[in-house]
Amino acid sequence: MEHSHYFQMILGTAGMLWVLLVGGMDLQRQESLVLKSLGLTARPSPRSPPPVPHLLWKMFHKRANLSSPASEEGKTPCWVEEFRVPGNIIRVFPDQGQFIHSDKPRSWLCLQKRLYFNFSTLDKGEQVTMAQLQIHFHHNQYQVASPGHPLELSLYQATQAALRGMSSHAYSRKLLVEQSFIHLHKSFVFNLTEAAKMWQTPARNLGLVLEIAGGKLCSGADSFLDTSLLVVSLAHRQCRSTRKRRSTYYVPTGASNICKPRRLYISFRDVGWEDWIIAPQGYLANYCLGECPFPLAEDLNSTNHAILQTVVHSLDPEGTPQPCCVPVRLSPISILYYDNDDNVVLRHYEDMVVDECGCR
Ligand SMILES: *[C@@H]1O[C@H](CO)[C@@H](O)[C@H](O)[C@H]1NC(C)=O
Ligand SMILES: *[C@@H]1O[C@H](CO)[C@@H](O)[C@H](O)[C@H]1NC(C)=O
Ligand SMILES: *[C@@H]1O[C@H](CO)[C@@H](O)[C@H](O)[C@H]1NC(C)=O
Ligand SMILES: *[C@@H]1O[C@H](CO)[C@@H](O)[C@H](O)[C@H]1NC(C)=O
Repeated sequence: MEHSHYFQMILGTAGMLWVLLVGGMDLQRQESLVLKSLGLTARPSPRSPPPVPHLLWKMFHKRANLSSPASEEGKTPCWVEEFRVPGNIIRVFPDQGQFIHSDKPRSWLCLQKRLYFNFSTLDKGEQVTMAQLQIHFHHNQYQVASPGHPLELSLYQATQAALRGMSSHAYSRKLLVEQSFIHLHKSFVFNLTEAAKMWQTPARNLGLVLEIAGGKLCSGADSFLDTSLLVVSLAHRQCRSTRKRRSTYYVPTGASNICKPRRLYISFRDVGWEDWIIAPQGYLANYCLGECPFPLAEDLNSTNHAILQTVVHSLDPEGTPQPCCVPVRLSPISILYYDNDDNVVLRHYEDMVVDECGCR
């Protein structure tokens, strides 16, 4: 199938943009409209895509498995059950901060690092509902000096930018977390919801400073594995409907020309999006096609208006058209992808699959 045909189908399906595309619009413009309806400003082209965090895979599979008809009933839309917060977008931001090399090395300080998460990809209207800092270490790299002298982990929020050429002490900073530990855990998780809510204003996002101190045998900074920030946010624009997938999910086949859902599988590979959409590789979107003849059968789920329109159409076929065969019930899917900054994103999209058609 042609790309342009695909984009028309996706646009028709994603209920966010009921655009009836007619010939003449060029492919690039169509693609950018589809991307916009998916909440992206441009087509992502990952440069160095990081591996997909295990947690996001788990959440994706859970959603893919859950979107089976029956389990969808009674679910709150735009709610992230794993964290019990509202949201329809889950991002994992890799840390972009640098190690801080102090002029006056202090022996008790094992590690001092700036942490920075670039929030520029968040939309203005998005509301951050949860942020969790995850710090993973290589196993057993930090040794504890002696019992009674635990390692000390401190996390500060930078509140004023360091001036160029000045040491780390030029940071004006606020202590967020302080934690001592005897045995190094492989990973730490901290609730940074309050701080992250401010970071949507770039001028207020000055990052964090992480310090680990106290160990006599603490090895070099390279033992530091990685830090990332998991952020849940809510884009209200795409969260309005509460439609649930019908329990008798059914896409009829057969030769009849009556209005009904037709099978359409959209393959992201065929659209040329396989480099940035991680999963699924495609999905069964379906579409509505068929006649809405007089007299309208009850199962065509028509409105009174449509019934009257068929009556008028049967009397005056030239003057009044038949009602249109359109989706009357759609259901959501979740997509796992890399955004324009190579962040991994799991996003919930309403109205992506046609479950039921009707004459309207
Ligand atoms: C359902 O979950 C399992 C893992 O629990 C996964 O292997 C499988 O691929 C999932 N199904 C879909 C459709 O993603
Ligand atoms: C954040 O990312 C945007 C877009 O990729 C970029 O223009 C901006 O310079 C970045 N900001 C910082 C402080 O790195
Ligand atoms: C994280 O912090 C926010 C704000 O302080 C709080 O409302 C929320 O309940 C906390 N979440 C968890 C899981 O502790
Ligand atoms: C018709 O569709 C509406 C949703 O638009 C739904 O609430 C209703 O149950 C449907 N009726 C039948 C008979 O399928």
